[in-house]
Amino acid sequence: MVGPLHMTNSTLTPIIDVHIDPSDIEQSLRDDVCEGLTATPKNIPPKWFYDHTGSELFDRITRLDEYYPTRAEREILVREAASIVEISGADTFVELGAGTSDKTRALLDAATRHGRLKRFIPFDVSEKFLRNTSIKLASEYPSLEIHGVVGDFDRHVELIPTGGRRLVAMLGGTIGNYAPGPRARFLRSLMSIMAPGDHLLLGTDLVKDPDRLVRAYDDAAGVTAAFNKNVLSVINRHLDADFDVDQFDHVARWDAESEWIEMLLCSRINQTVHVGSVGLDVGFARGELMRTEISSKFRREGIERELGDLGLEMVDWQTDAAGDFGVSLSRL
Ligand code: SAH
Ligand code: TRP
Repeated sequence: MVGPLHMTNSTLTPIIDVHIDPSDIEQSLRDDVCEGLTATPKNIPPKWFYDHTGSELFDRITRLDEYYPTRAEREILVREAASIVEISGADTFVELGAGTSDKTRALLDAATRHGRLKRFIPFDVSEKFLRNTSIKLASEYPSLEIHGVVGDFDRHVELIPTGGRRLVAMLGGTIGNYAPGPRARFLRSLMSIMAPGDHLLLGTDLVKDPDRLVRAYDDAAGVTAAFNKNVLSVINRHLDADFDVDQFDHVARWDAESEWIEMLLCSRINQTVHVGSVGLDVGFARGELMRTEISSKFRREGIERELGDLGLEMVDWQTDAAGDFGVSLSRL
């Protein structure tokens, strides 16, 4: 149905707000690297995975045989899209860590069919990807206003445009990349952009056989290894460092107590790395491990409790047929 009424909303040029500029990136990378590489044990915060190369590698991860979360979550979203749209009653979707917004299209299709959705706000730290995604979506969904936001979960969530009845989505198990303390802080900050009656759609990977979990984060083709090591190239490029990427091994291991997968880089030799732009020399012992990421695995009761503590009520819980992945819908 195309008529004057439907044309008024149509905009083929998405709006993009950029809250992270290149000098800002370098300053905050410098801070993170100084802190992380002088800590014991060493660590690098995971948002630095996602430069353009990193985002492309992640996109390849989502298509690997071993990486079941994307397929499982897509199965749920395709099956439940109409119901999620109906229950939420949203006219505005916000997607945190949108990436390519690939699976989100199931929701956008159902919502545009339903006719109530006006605006889609993808939010991501990776500017090029966010731009590409926004431009593609604007042409695929001409009746939607696409308003992209380039920002960091930990600093710019409050700057997401306000208004409308919202469905805020965080898919792909991205919430699991936070440890419990920072996760509670992040979710609390999210509450500031939600009003009573708004909904949160959260994709969470579930606890399962550790062998399958480890394989999902250490695939045979080595794509996840390349993704993990890419963070060293990001540091080399931005901070004039001299990491020899080939002298580090990718490690993924299951922490049964914390119920998370831990991603690490293991130094193959005794070596010193120079970080030029901060004048830092960092020694690595042979076999020394540096943590780059965690990916927490959840149980339904735990999620319900965490969301309940924030005043959110879980109104729907769905898993794929195999029970590998969970998608919850909660109302504030
Ligand atoms: N939603 C997609 C992508 C998940 S990967 C999916 O389900 O497949 C995680 C996404 O979050 C990436 O697109 C990455 O660029 C983004 N991201 C990671 N850390 C971020 C941060 N601190 N702030 C904003 N976006 C971040
Ligand atoms: N959100 C994804 C997950 O936890 C991110 C991810 C997948 C990832 N594979 C990875 C992060 C490998 C670091 C390394 O499943």
